[in-house]
Amino acid sequence: MESSFRETHKNLSDLNSFLALRPNSKKFILLDTNTYTHCLPVLIEEVEELYGAEILEVEEGEGSKSLSIIDNLSSAMIESSADRDSILISLGGGVITDLGGFLASVFKRGIQHISIPTTVLGMVDASIGGKTAVNVGEIKNQIGTFNHNTLVYLHKEFLETLDKRQVLNGIAEIIKISIVKDELLWQEIRESNPNKDERFYNEFLEKSISLKEDIVRQDPNEENERKILNFGHTLGHAIESITLSKGLDVLHGEAVASGIYYAIKLSEQKLSFPKDKAKDIYDYLTQHYKIVDLKEYKDLILNYLAADKKNINGEFRFVLLEDIGKPSINFIITKEEILNL
Ligand SMILES: NC(=O)c1ccc[n+]([C@@H]2O[C@H](COP(=O)([O-])OP(=O)(O)OC[C@H]3O[C@@H](n4cnc5c(N)ncnc54)[C@H](O)[C@@H]3O)[C@@H](O)[C@H]2O)c1
Repeated sequence: MESSFRETHKNLSDLNSFLALRPNSKKFILLDTNTYTHCLPVLIEEVEELYGAEILEVEEGEGSKSLSIIDNLSSAMIESSADRDSILISLGGGVITDLGGFLASVFKRGIQHISIPTTVLGMVDASIGGKTAVNVGEIKNQIGTFNHNTLVYLHKEFLETLDKRQVLNGIAEIIKISIVKDELLWQEIRESNPNKDERFYNEFLEKSISLKEDIVRQDPNEENERKILNFGHTLGHAIESITLSKGLDVLHGEAVASGIYYAIKLSEQKLSFPKDKAKDIYDYLTQHYKIVDLKEYKDLILNYLAADKKNINGEFRFVLLEDIGKPSINFIITKEEILNL
């Protein structure tokens, strides 16, 4: 299989043409309980080549990103006579595209994967750039692959059934990429209400996709430039893992909003990030997200940070900002600096 960066296709009819050229490949659609109801009927109507595809359904939610689910799905595919020409189509949010991307990259040493994101977060972030993963217990994304053979198809109409909280969840990643890469976009976002402004579904969403694609195109395997996208995610992932372990209801983007908040605090302390711009970011984040108080989790936060994939020799590595659009990677942060946040 050829392995190079693939841009998001903007039209589901392209998918129909792609599948029409592969009439003998067995097609599987991986989805969760919600996308089965809300998105599958639309997909089958738009892509007639998928009529009769095998359905693989998992429970909605982060709990499905696990090796035991990979085991169940692999057994189901073998029972349905899947072979190396089979095509796996992931229809869902980041949970489903991460899970399906991983399954397709290891099943019979790799089959074609197609990602159809149905959440804002999936469209602007999880489906772009080939990262796949499952969790180990409640520790996020510990087993995964880069699967650059994934083809991505965008159909924004899927967002019509997504609830407001899930939309805001994805907007956290739009905020992140604007702060890291595009000050003009951030200024527009800062003056807009994410609960009302249609640009979040249009210009802002599309701009975020192209910003992420530009970064991944330059550094597909995250050796350098791509690391800037981890801004807000070091503490964000630790917060997500802690809240998951405690059975608290905190979504990925909500944890990332808190991660951005604290990464800006560290950027003020370590890199003299401008105070007025920091205040704008704190104001916007606290207005739209509940910022987790790290002091509540003092005993746990260091343990979860210790599992971060960016750590080297046991040191925590953060992406911090000198200014909006000026990230600095591999910044060493001590345990004391974390505990003082
Ligand atoms: N691979 C990457 O680069 C990357 C990047 C960011 C996040 N992620 C991963 O993405 C996951 C989070 O993704 P998410 O926020 O999309 O979560 P998700 O996949 O759990 O979807 C959120 C909820 O929305 C429901 N849903 C999805 N589409 C719907 C629709 N159109 N209408 C109604 N309901 C719908 C889902 O069933 C679920 O209940 C996390 O596991 C995170 O680690 C991966």
